[in-house]
Amino acid sequence: MISTLLSRLQRGPDGAPAPRLAFGADYNPEQWPREVWEEDVRLMREAGVNIVSVAIFSWARIQPGPGTWDFAWLDEVMDLLHENGIGVDLATATASPPPWLTTAHPEILPVTDRGETVWPGARQHWRPTSPVFREHALRLVRELATRYAGHPALVAWHVNNELGCHNVYDYSDDAARAFREWLRARYTTLDALNHAWGTAFWSQRYSDWEQILPPRLAASHPNPTQQLDFKRFSSDALKDHLRAEREILRELTPGVPVTTNFMVMPGTKGMNYADWADEVDFVANDHYVVPRPQDRDELSFSANLTSGIAGGRPWFLMEHSTSAVNWQPVNLAKRPGELARDSLLHVAHGADAVCFFQWRQSAAGAEKYHSAMVPHAGADSDLFRAVTALGGTLRALAPVAGAEREPAEVGILFDWESWWASEQDSHPTSLLDYHQEALDWYSALLALGIRADVVTTRSDLSRHRVLIAPVLHLVPAELAKDLTRYAEQGGHLVTTYFSGVVDENDHVWLGGYPGALRDLLGIRVEEFGPLPAGQTVELDDATTGGLWTDRITTTAPETEVLARYRTGVHAGRPAVTRRPTGGGSAAYVSTRLGVDGLTSLLPRLLAPAGVRSELPAEVRGLVEATVRRGPGGRFLFLVNRTDDPVTVPGTTGEVLVGSTGADGAVALGPRDVAVLRLPNS
Ligand code: GLA
Ligand code: GLA
Repeated sequence: MISTLLSRLQRGPDGAPAPRLAFGADYNPEQWPREVWEEDVRLMREAGVNIVSVAIFSWARIQPGPGTWDFAWLDEVMDLLHENGIGVDLATATASPPPWLTTAHPEILPVTDRGETVWPGARQHWRPTSPVFREHALRLVRELATRYAGHPALVAWHVNNELGCHNVYDYSDDAARAFREWLRARYTTLDALNHAWGTAFWSQRYSDWEQILPPRLAASHPNPTQQLDFKRFSSDALKDHLRAEREILRELTPGVPVTTNFMVMPGTKGMNYADWADEVDFVANDHYVVPRPQDRDELSFSANLTSGIAGGRPWFLMEHSTSAVNWQPVNLAKRPGELARDSLLHVAHGADAVCFFQWRQSAAGAEKYHSAMVPHAGADSDLFRAVTALGGTLRALAPVAGAEREPAEVGILFDWESWWASEQDSHPTSLLDYHQEALDWYSALLALGIRADVVTTRSDLSRHRVLIAPVLHLVPAELAKDLTRYAEQGGHLVTTYFSGVVDENDHVWLGGYPGALRDLLGIRVEEFGPLPAGQTVELDDATTGGLWTDRITTTAPETEVLARYRTGVHAGRPAVTRRPTGGGSAAYVSTRLGVDGLTSLLPRLLAPAGVRSELPAEVRGLVEATVRRGPGGRFLFLVNRTDDPVTVPGTTGEVLVGSTGADGAVALGPRDVAVLRLPNS
């Protein structure tokens, strides 16, 4: 639990008692001479830092050769941090194998689908399934855990780093062997595998397990179920590595919570974090803003989904950036206010820790132009002053620590299996973007000032009056039953184009789309109508669709048509439908409406459920509101989504962050955040 970690943090230099929010960064002292360390801890105290992640990329320093160990420097770092009241999230240091290891054992290096070796020179050049790598990594973990078991600075373990960031897909012979084992466990018999993979197609029938390979470069589209299973397997292989390290840590340091940093972001779909969540003692996430339309909505979505993965419990923001990163085509500095706003937006969605990559900006190496808490310019900088101010803000928010998110009436279902399956090749369109569609619905709800929880199939879906499941493409029979029960028991389900199309084997549900949800939705589609890039269709409710259309026939007398196509080949036919069920309903949106179209449609989808904005009308869309509830009270976060000042009238409560006018209105400057403890809570 994150509460275990927070309670292990010492009182800060300010004497503020635990529980408190954690604040800190990755700290890489091995990149700096000893005298800099003294300045580091002094500045950490000045900024209010109470936790740092250490030794993430220190393998070569800790173990300079197969049989040699150098802990002296790390002992000193741990002691120094402890003396200064700073807790350590200690990494297991396995993320970047040292040159001596890859030279002695090149067989640990990953292989691409084209058979190319991924050479050392960067980081994470290891096969998740390599027994040789595993042996060396676990030996290191054992040494570290034994040495620091009783160290007072140790507050948590940080397994590896961003598992799968660069090595999620490995097509080596080790991977092939492990894939076969995974498939045997899943299918037991070759007949079952042949059925699931549909190997009657293109003469792919296997007569021996040894014939099975990862989906390496092939002459044409590799078998879709083979691809889907390889994605599942690859996520599981990394999860297995996480478990292997964690078991040693639990054995040697029981009571010290173990985590690893997830990357809940659009570009990192390989790891099914909903499925990993139970493997860690608390969920930790890394997030970086990629400048583009909806960028802060995406930040909010990521934080919200991380909370969903964590079951609504508080989680740990392990990394984000104080300003620019180094890995985009153009790396933009954050504008004034964005450092604090971005951090607090994570806190608004349940983060009990705000940490950055990294403490001190590197002078050398591939990340020397990546921002940090202490920039190249040094502590006499606007950036460090903003960092220190944020430390103060987080101290003021100490009562929030431990608060869970208060469930919203609307849920958005985000499902890795559908993400993977809907974007495979040889589909009706290659333009479909699962994450973007989900984000569009989220942005539309933000525009309407309506709170929503992003949840996974492991969440209790019945908590939400409205459940939006965009592109829920892969629907096993059990999920179809759950969703039907949900709607029949009063829930309002909303789904979209290309949903309910395949089962867990990626086999089409026959008899007309959206097969698994056809009866529930009271519609039938005989043929898909994807649109060429840039082509749109008009609907009769004045919205515009893109990407996709369906030729819909309503099949139940009670199915209502909420909007029809006005142009295109389906002109006059239904585009948006809703079937009332016993107390609830099931709606279908057959085209991609985008944020504006969804903002205009949503009120009609939400009305039967009685869902409305909780915000005063004049600030809807301008302000994002979240609520956290815990031992310290009930907290309202108000985030200004705009670059203009916004005044939120009619709010009462104790102001923890921000300011209120004489009339009790909360005044938010551009990109500002206010936090209030609500009365009677
Ligand atoms: C990831 C890694 C860090 C660093 C940052 C840079 O989050 O975990 O080591 O590379 O990216 O943005
Ligand atoms: C070719 C092949 C067929 C089939 C079609 C699909 O014609 O011979 O087997 O793959 O392409 O368009």
